[in-house]
Amino acid sequence: MTQPISRFWQRSLASGFLAALMTSLCLGSGCNTLEPAPPSSAEELQTQPLSPLPLRALAQQRRLQIGTAVQVKPLQQEAPYRQILAREFNQITTENAMKFRVIHPKPDRYDFTDADQIVRFAQTHRMAVHGHAMVWYRTQPDWLTQGEWTRQTLMPVLKDHIRTVVRQYRGRVQSWDVVNEAIDDQGNLRDNLWLRVIGPEYIAIAFQEAHAADPKARLFYNDYGGEEVGKKSDAIYDLVKTLRDQGVPIHGVGLQMHKTIKRPPKFDRIHKNLQRLQALGLDVRITEMDVQIHGGQGNLTQKLHAQAQVYQQILKLCLNAPNCKALTVWGLSDQHSWIPEFFKRPDAPLLFDSAYQPKPAYNALKALLQ
Ligand code: XIL
Repeated sequence: MTQPISRFWQRSLASGFLAALMTSLCLGSGCNTLEPAPPSSAEELQTQPLSPLPLRALAQQRRLQIGTAVQVKPLQQEAPYRQILAREFNQITTENAMKFRVIHPKPDRYDFTDADQIVRFAQTHRMAVHGHAMVWYRTQPDWLTQGEWTRQTLMPVLKDHIRTVVRQYRGRVQSWDVVNEAIDDQGNLRDNLWLRVIGPEYIAIAFQEAHAADPKARLFYNDYGGEEVGKKSDAIYDLVKTLRDQGVPIHGVGLQMHKTIKRPPKFDRIHKNLQRLQALGLDVRITEMDVQIHGGQGNLTQKLHAQAQVYQQILKLCLNAPNCKALTVWGLSDQHSWIPEFFKRPDAPLLFDSAYQPKPAYNALKALLQ
């Protein structure tokens, strides 16, 4: 599909440089398509002096949200966490604070303490907030998972939960992961409480309720493993297309982007997926990016370099896609990553190391944005 001018170049122009380069590179057909701009390798880009500006200033110039998932404990307890967060990012995703078990611990009690702290920090520092995640099969309270439900009793729980939480943050949370991971690895609707008791229409109902509670909020379906064209992303595509066709208020798809250098993503296949979602009129966000180095080849320096290249290529795809609104990493520093706990092994998947020092991946993002 062709675009009058790709957003990569629009953003470059908006930032007031690369114009001469653009003239020279656009003599062919590159500027009129969504094809990635002629690539510079990570090495080439990193030989340029790095801008002293923080990531968020550079991203802002490209009208891109650059975000991170935020946990409330380091936000309260670690000054460098707060400093880097406010300096480098213009968007926050609530990592756990808005999950069902945290925000709705008892049938008749909501607890906004953690979420309020994060949202307040974001407001103070002029950062957009992406709410995560209204309906998910994990991190649910016992009262929900162990309750005996019928369609008639569970439906009001779903509706009340979504209305209450979305209303609470109306005007302060710009976008939401309304439904998270509803498709399994075979491409079928995932077996969960909502599907079993309410049926597949729980998904449409969730979006309708969120929209009713905040008509201005941008609403996303979010999942992992659906980045590249393939079985799972086909199923996600079919789901969101059906919802669109039915007039359900859905605005985009979140691609979690949990990746590893051991099996680097196939960038051309992600590109194809971004294109078909754009053709549907849907936004895309890279919602939870991290890149594991475990099992990669070479020494640590080589692994961190490979990691930097994955980050940079994904950013490049996002900058080139007019519908890609955000790149969010899943944690601020390696110390806060969920990966070591989940996979039960050490790793270093994020942009800052455990001592809050920027890594090659950070520099690679900067080099591309500047
Ligand atoms: C993870 C958090 O990062 C952890 O702190 C928590 O213990 C478990 O959940 N996909 C998602 C996220 O959508 O909500 C998950 O976050 C990571 C995988």
